[in-house]
Amino acid sequence: MHPASLGLDPARTVAPVSRRTFGSFVEHMGRCVYTGIYEPTHPTADADGFRQDVLALTRELGVTLVRYPGGNFVSGYRWEDGVGPVADRPVRRDLAWHSLETNEVGIDEFMRWADKAGVEVMYALNLGTRGVEAALDVHEYLNHPDRTRLAELRRTNGTDKPYGIRMFCLGNEMDGPWQTGHKTAHEYGRLAVETARALRAAEPDLELIACGSSGSSMPTFAAWEAEVLEHAYEAVDYISAHAYYEPVDGDIGSFLASAVDMDHFVNSVVATADSVGARLKSSKRLQISFDEWNVWYLREFQARQETASTEWPIAPRVIEDCYNVTDAVVVGGLLISLLRHSDRVTAACQAQLVNVIAPIRTEPGGPAWRQTIFHPFALTARLAQGNVLRVELQAPTYHTKRFGEVPLLDAVATHDPAGGDVTVFVVNRHQTDAVPLSVPLSAFGTPLRVAEAWTLADADLSATNTAADPDRVVPHPAGDVSMADGVLHATLPAVSWTAIRLTRG
Ligand code: AHR
Repeated sequence: MHPASLGLDPARTVAPVSRRTFGSFVEHMGRCVYTGIYEPTHPTADADGFRQDVLALTRELGVTLVRYPGGNFVSGYRWEDGVGPVADRPVRRDLAWHSLETNEVGIDEFMRWADKAGVEVMYALNLGTRGVEAALDVHEYLNHPDRTRLAELRRTNGTDKPYGIRMFCLGNEMDGPWQTGHKTAHEYGRLAVETARALRAAEPDLELIACGSSGSSMPTFAAWEAEVLEHAYEAVDYISAHAYYEPVDGDIGSFLASAVDMDHFVNSVVATADSVGARLKSSKRLQISFDEWNVWYLREFQARQETASTEWPIAPRVIEDCYNVTDAVVVGGLLISLLRHSDRVTAACQAQLVNVIAPIRTEPGGPAWRQTIFHPFALTARLAQGNVLRVELQAPTYHTKRFGEVPLLDAVATHDPAGGDVTVFVVNRHQTDAVPLSVPLSAFGTPLRVAEAWTLADADLSATNTAADPDRVVPHPAGDVSMADGVLHATLPAVSWTAIRLTRG
């Protein structure tokens, strides 16, 4: 195997690491909320009914931001159902996931959970069945200090101070025909701009996110963004992007290169947004909120959906994908792509946090455990510090069905100018062979040594973590990593994700 090399220079920065890159997502869907974050009868439940085992794992994961309450769920959600005495809250149909919502958890409970978890909340507004007035109402409940009817209602319900939420999503996936209250780009663009203007009249410095396409394969992709932004460009700060990846027809080579698609997706949205900005002669540059991304075995889910259900269960098991080693390597690669675009992608949410396509799994009344994909997320969130560096990667390529020739390695690096640490994140997509990598470090001036190095790889790529064997797949100290004459050398196992932190001295 030809060796690969990675050029780094502390002067060649992309942008500071945005802590909001390490966001997650809690939707009222399946068992994400009920028996996920909340289970009052669980042995670890605290006085508010939150599972402390899940809270501890959420903190360990390094999550900084959590999008709530949906997802498709939000497009039929009445936020008022979830406030006030729990006994008075109505049970409603959730049309998005064909289940019943008890409303036992609503805004106040979730904000209490977020406080315990130490995360910022990104609140999604219902622009499916509702509009400007309900958006203003929920904003008033959340953020207005006092004296108004809804601020006083919040205070009566036990929260004196406003929650001070900064980020609001103007709806969810409004381009998708599956969305309750689906809209054309024109209809949505008008509603988004009017909602944004009204919210800004209430609180000017909110950070508002317009819905981009629900995926880059949507027939209206890019045209949707262009038309929505023709209306809303000056009124919003972000345009959203959503992407889910899975192996198609057993094509692992393309699956391992999912980050190539994510790179292209981000570049396309940036180009579209910037072209609208240019047409509008605007000096403003929109950011991307990549507020749903993950590996999701979506085709299996869609196949199961073909027979319409007549049942209305509460918190059923929905898309509880069990992730393997390859999935974790792909997730590590997607985090590399997100970091690489830190100049424009300044918020991102892995979908979702618990049970529903999630890094954390639970059993009702039973244990909580880390799925394989937990590990690259937790290590990246902990180790990516300071600035993202623009790297020069020289690597052999391989052929993929979906993307043509693709580099065998993908990498990004961060540099903390204050402490001096440099961290390299790298994926080896070769399915059978290790790839040697060298990283000259002379540009950093002071000598560096390896402080820690972790690799996620396994002889059995289909290995998973389960309730019975929760630590079957974990990162191991990277074996073959050394420094010689100011050059870092590492041998990266086949299908692996590696993080190497270097420090001064
Ligand atoms: O995360 C699962 C679902 O995927 C969300 O509800 C929706 O927004 C997306 O299609």
